[in-house]
Amino acid sequence: MKKRKTILDIGLMKEQQDKISVLTAYDYPFAQIMDNVGIDIILVGDSVGSVFSGYDNTLPVTLDEMLYHTKAVVRGSQQALIVTDMPFMSYQIDKRDARLNAGRLIKEGGAQAVKLEGGEHMASTIRTIVDMDIPVVGHIGLTPQSIHRMGGFKVQGREEEQAREILADARAVEDAGAFAMVLEGIPSGLAKKITESVGIPTIGIGAGAGCDGQVLVIHDILGLCDKYSPKFVKRYADVSATISTGIEQYIKEVKNGDFPTTAHSFE
Ligand code: KIV
Repeated sequence: MKKRKTILDIGLMKEQQDKISVLTAYDYPFAQIMDNVGIDIILVGDSVGSVFSGYDNTLPVTLDEMLYHTKAVVRGSQQALIVTDMPFMSYQIDKRDARLNAGRLIKEGGAQAVKLEGGEHMASTIRTIVDMDIPVVGHIGLTPQSIHRMGGFKVQGREEEQAREILADARAVEDAGAFAMVLEGIPSGLAKKITESVGIPTIGIGAGAGCDGQVLVIHDILGLCDKYSPKFVKRYADVSATISTGIEQYIKEVKNGDFPTTAHSFE
């Protein structure tokens, strides 16, 4: 039986300058594959809404959906730390809701930590969840649940004033007790500055190489989702092409009678 990583292991990785690898997963087989090859953290992201359910953004994702996907990922993994996203409207309304919903993701879902979006204005919400002994990952910069305020998925913090606000967000997230934070869609210089000025690990996505770790969406790195292709994504495989070839071959063999053979049949 493998030992699952803890938030202490993740904190130590920053101290030891050991980069933290993070990928999203939403189901049992992908969780099993990435866990077997040693991913440090699996994020059950609300990006499930875009790459799995086909929505234009993450806003429609519900807590019940996050619970369903979290349970599958937990069953498929043994060594990675499982962080699950709190979906839109599961923590913004009031503190009681935030505590209840974070608690459900841990108690029913089986995750070890939750992630929520927002900096200074979410600090007291992070604190109230941390006070229940639920580890929290912050998420600042380009926060996809704020898509309508931002007017699209746009890099944040290019102007000096906004960069100052994001740095203040990072400090507020750390002060509120988060054990790590995602830095999304910000200039690499700003991400490096934040990483050097906070004591908790930063996990970058579209934030350059100066972070303590990196996260990407599994469908993006495997070429499973052609809907959009941001600059920060690197494609490591073309799984769509492999799947298409396999399915085309299956269709051909069913149509011409090459499948099934006696080897695939019962006496
Ligand atoms: O939902 C998600 O997958 C995320 C990552 C992209 C950071 O929040």
